[in-house]
Amino acid sequence: MLRVEGVSVSYGRVTALREVSLIVNDGEIVTLIGSNGAGKTTLLNAITGVVPLKNGNVWLDDCRLSGLSSHKTVRLGVGYVPEGRQTFGAMSVKDNLTLGSYSQRGRNPLSTLGYVGWFLHHPSIQSNLEMVFKLFPILKERQKQQAGSLSGGEQQMLAVGRALMSSPKILLLDEPSLGLAPNLVREILKLLIRLRDEGLTILLVEQDAAAALKVADRGYVMERGRITIEGKAKELLFDDRVRQAYLGKTVA
Ligand SMILES: Nc1ncnc2c1ncn2[C@@H]1O[C@H](COP(=O)(O)OP(=O)(O)OP(=O)(O)O)[C@@H](O)[C@H]1O
Ligand SMILES: [Mg+2]
Repeated sequence: MLRVEGVSVSYGRVTALREVSLIVNDGEIVTLIGSNGAGKTTLLNAITGVVPLKNGNVWLDDCRLSGLSSHKTVRLGVGYVPEGRQTFGAMSVKDNLTLGSYSQRGRNPLSTLGYVGWFLHHPSIQSNLEMVFKLFPILKERQKQQAGSLSGGEQQMLAVGRALMSSPKILLLDEPSLGLAPNLVREILKLLIRLRDEGLTILLVEQDAAAALKVADRGYVMERGRITIEGKAKELLFDDRVRQAYLGKTVA
């Protein structure tokens, strides 16, 4: 499904990614773990066209993503829940969700039809909205409320729901559990398993390596812009290097 091949990214003279390669197969949850500043967000931004690649390629099935704008990568099926949620606080929950679907057809929502007209002419948006509301009943309850007034966990659900509105083939999530209480972290991770079981493919960046490895099928460890360890999630959970560096366990 997703292939990252030898990708390098620089910010001016700072090299953030060095020849990173990874694969996410159809129907897998793959997690990317690593310390602060390792380059995890940069990799997701490189896949989604937010930052340009210096070298390498990114493929989604037979489609080359490298060089495309982030708008186009969404249209091709890459859903992105960026770091820090980034919902539109002054807009309603429902409007935040409908905005997520605009890229679905690559149409400018503010074109001739106007906002409401555009919405009414796309029944798939209505059905996606119903799907998201079924997944997150709390968002249905709060649909008229301003997004900024939601709790942290609710905003995270909104961010995931918004990405799902674009009917993605693969969902990329950057630290969805950041700042959430442990029970909400479990909820979000359970949701990812459910989405995977329903056929979605997922690339998950997580600080909480133990939690991520428990839900993932495979994992990659990134250090200073390089992939240093990869393997089945269950094996990584018991890998001494991973345990020592990321799971807070001293190796006997
Ligand atoms: N816009 C930017 N300009 C310059 N340097 C940047 C920029 N964005 C990131 N960097 C640098 O690139 C490196 C990788 O950053 P990145 O945000 O990808 O790390 P991360 O693994 O996501 O970290 P965290 O876990 O803290 O979110 C860091 O050294 C960071 O300072
Ligand atoms: Mg980051």
